[in-house]
Amino acid sequence: MGKNTQTYLVGGVSAIGGFLFGYDIGVISSILEMDYWKAYFHNPGSVGVGVIVSLLTAGCFVGSLCAGWIADRFSRKRAIMSACVVFCLGAAIQCGSRNRAMLIVGRFIAGLGVGVLSMSVPVFQSEIAPPHIRGRLVSLQQWAITWGILVAFWIDYGCHFIDSHASWRVPIGLQIVPAVILFVSMIFMPYSPRWLVDNNRIDEAQKVLARLRSGGDLHAPEVMEELDEIKEAVRIDRETAIRSYTDLLRVPIRRRVVLGVLIQALQQLTGINVSMYFATSIFKQAGLSGNNAPLLAQGVNGVVNMLATVPAILWIDRWGRRKTLMLGSLGCGITYFIQAVAKGATQHKTYDEDGSLNLNIPKGPSYLIIVMMYLFVASFAMSWGPIGWIYPSEIFPMRIRSKANSITTASNWIFNFVIGLVSPILIKKITWGLDLIFAIIMFSSIAIVYLFYPETKNRSLEDMEVIFTGSIWSHKDRKRIAEYDDANKGHVDAKMTKD
Ligand code: GLC
Repeated sequence: MGKNTQTYLVGGVSAIGGFLFGYDIGVISSILEMDYWKAYFHNPGSVGVGVIVSLLTAGCFVGSLCAGWIADRFSRKRAIMSACVVFCLGAAIQCGSRNRAMLIVGRFIAGLGVGVLSMSVPVFQSEIAPPHIRGRLVSLQQWAITWGILVAFWIDYGCHFIDSHASWRVPIGLQIVPAVILFVSMIFMPYSPRWLVDNNRIDEAQKVLARLRSGGDLHAPEVMEELDEIKEAVRIDRETAIRSYTDLLRVPIRRRVVLGVLIQALQQLTGINVSMYFATSIFKQAGLSGNNAPLLAQGVNGVVNMLATVPAILWIDRWGRRKTLMLGSLGCGITYFIQAVAKGATQHKTYDEDGSLNLNIPKGPSYLIIVMMYLFVASFAMSWGPIGWIYPSEIFPMRIRSKANSITTASNWIFNFVIGLVSPILIKKITWGLDLIFAIIMFSSIAIVYLFYPETKNRSLEDMEVIFTGSIWSHKDRKRIAEYDDANKGHVDAKMTKD
């Protein structure tokens, strides 16, 4: 790792963007259950709660759509820095909110920042990385997301003992701290060398590469070689017509856009954020009583999510994308199905004075449901969590990558938005029916991955052009790719060692 320490450092610092993303996802769940919060916002009910949760993701959707343009025009580095400023503004408005409208506006503005980060951080990371550690650097952002969710849960837990409105204002306000740390650290981080070359700042790009690759030696062979490669890629970029948003609909790219959008949509349709946003209420419904138990159970949820992401980061390149996604879907599907049966067979609905629903599930099935929720989160964290972000970042050619990723990321946020909006209503109205719907989606996704998603592990970017020519992933594809590998044996082997 020694040689890439600087790259890991720069990639790690930018991953703080993922931490902000995760913190915002995680912070709201327990706050929604706090008495002071409920009193202040006059028990907004499930529709109001859905709006408050989802307005962040609506902001993220808009932010990620703009991010492609901002990151191309002003640099990846400045896109990240400006997102921090916007994020702090949104967090400050939420923290000081005097009414529901301020809270909603604050969450939307913070969302704009998170949206820009969710697109520009992976692009920045992949552009500073040498090819052989690119996948791992991008995965760091997902790991940082899980850390953000986890830290937010536990801060919420600590703050819910505070006997005043600080109990909800402090966790919301604290997110300004990592945003400031990210902003200040980014001042010292380099620009993406690729962006510099694209903007004719060749000398600066050479300096950045020397810092990242050769301990400052400007003329080291690896620096000169990579600089030449980037210059060549930029030259081809300029010659190739495929650059604009409308080109995403053209034949060589269209299939990948559809797969990228679908994989991000499916990542959200796993229902992961139902358990990130609303697990505290679900644990409560499932029979965990008192004020502390549901919150604690939610904290454990965050720990499971973070820990289960580690094996994926370490071994995703060995397991492959397809197999991991299908196994993940199977795990998620089974855990949902068991929850649906356990709830359906034993629930007996009653309502508290404040309108919250109890399912009055007996102890045995209620523990089973809780264990299944954790196993679901672990299945997700090892599969759909990281691969949902990795796959779109590796299938597009460089020349269209940021625009294409802007669209795929936006699709992730729009589905996140819809889930956040409708699920609190569905949890109340159809209870176990929602688990059943997610189980069906998960089982169907096994077939979708099997039929349509080619394996991309250990493939270089040039290989993608060959892999994505068919319309479904069939025996014929495998044969064609094997023939391609045979014909390019020396070339592929050389690339594999390098990548
Ligand atoms: C992924 C999802 C995000 C979710 C998180 C949970 O990053 O995109 O929506 O909250 O995983 O770990």
